[in-house]
Amino acid sequence: MRTGFPKNFLWGGAISSSQADGAYNEDGKGLDTQDLRYFNSEWTKEERDHHRNINMTSERFEKALTATDTTYYPFRWGIDFYHDYKEDLALMEELGLKIFRTSINWARIFPNGDDAAPNEAGIQFYIDLFDECHKRGMKVFATILHYNIPVHLVTKYGGWKNRKLIDFYLRYARVLFERLGDRVDYWLPFNEINAGKFNPYNGVCLIKDREKDYESAIYQCLHHQLIANALTIKLAHEIIPGSMVGGMIARFTTYPATCKPDDVMQSILDEQYSNYFYTDVMARGKYPAYMERYFNDNNIKIEKEAGDDDILRENTVDFLSFSYYMSMVATTDKNWDRASGNLVTGNKNPYLQASEWGWQIDPVGLRISLNQMYDRYQLPIFIAENGIGAIDQWHDGKVHDSYRIDYLRDHFKQMKEAIIDGVDLIGYTMWGIIDIVSCGTIEMKKRYGVIYVDRDDRGQGTNKRYKKDSFYWYQNCIKMNGEDL
Ligand code: BG6
Repeated sequence: MRTGFPKNFLWGGAISSSQADGAYNEDGKGLDTQDLRYFNSEWTKEERDHHRNINMTSERFEKALTATDTTYYPFRWGIDFYHDYKEDLALMEELGLKIFRTSINWARIFPNGDDAAPNEAGIQFYIDLFDECHKRGMKVFATILHYNIPVHLVTKYGGWKNRKLIDFYLRYARVLFERLGDRVDYWLPFNEINAGKFNPYNGVCLIKDREKDYESAIYQCLHHQLIANALTIKLAHEIIPGSMVGGMIARFTTYPATCKPDDVMQSILDEQYSNYFYTDVMARGKYPAYMERYFNDNNIKIEKEAGDDDILRENTVDFLSFSYYMSMVATTDKNWDRASGNLVTGNKNPYLQASEWGWQIDPVGLRISLNQMYDRYQLPIFIAENGIGAIDQWHDGKVHDSYRIDYLRDHFKQMKEAIIDGVDLIGYTMWGIIDIVSCGTIEMKKRYGVIYVDRDDRGQGTNKRYKKDSFYWYQNCIKMNGEDL
């Protein structure tokens, strides 16, 4: 019987290009879709929740295309990781990270997305970045697409709805495998592939008011991404034999709100539509029957090409991955209290506390999800994201973030339990290991890191880095391989 974390467990940290890099128009990079997202600190909480994601409008998109004042476009400045990565990776080495996850920005490699040749300066940046990781003793976990696609692919082609995006994406992936293949240890073609359903601008780059049948358009895009995912696995295995290519979702652990059979059935449906559809396609290689029924019941029409089923069947993932921040309850009771959450809002669980952003904190839910995913697929699992967004306060010249330490400890204990249960959990990359711009609400003040970055919501500050109490706690945890949690 296993007793705890395996010796080679990959303790790590994660960020994404749009939330960290900045340098949005340097060294040949094209404008990308996250560069266009706008933050206004005068918005009320309700306005911010509304504006933050779900639907990009044509009006805001057009305005952002020509915006020159970058103050309200935080993804254009991030934490300037593009210039400071060496110092930041030195801190990650001090922390003892075994693996570092970040995403490659498509618009640095192909500024317009459909260019005939790649931008050499963009490739060089990633060669240097990944070499630096290895020099500092860290493996590299690279996400090929974490939401931001070159804007030109939206203005000219309409985003992922257009099947041509599959070819452009594969051209981009080929360059990565050929030029960076020996520098990357784990590949992830898509961050949270189910995000397209819940946050269509981020996930599949759709602008709602341009679509006649928004729901069908979303699933058409998702179909193209699932095909691109499968073909990318094929390409990686051809170019880099033995490479590890994963599939990732934002995982929403779901409980029935009561033991009423209708609630239990609702929780099964919520799991299928939000989680399992995507992992079933990526790991089992085919569309599940429950989705055919869902499409039929909801009048959703998507076009598949002959051969698509073969592509999915022949190219399944080497491992599964997910982000985990909270759980939800499922009920048919329309008056049930609501809770906020990552990508989705849902129903409240009266037994759980929530973060300052209303995300329900549920460490046991992580063990439940790990067991459910492993039981269903028997594939290695990598937790690609987990952490707590909080407003950090300074006391005596330091950030004493005991709430973050508690959050991590409680989740790590449950990971350990899951490993003892028999789950093949191979790694964990803590989300926002260094403070970055939050993705949903585009704020700096929602901080996840064990390293503090002195910047505010408008990008003002020294940009200096400071170690929080959680830095030392995580450092010790890694050193002890989670033995004294
Ligand atoms: C995940 C995304 O869904 O949630 C990250 O992959 C994101 O990009 C994370 O940052 C946390 O969400 P937020 O909105 O708090 O940044």
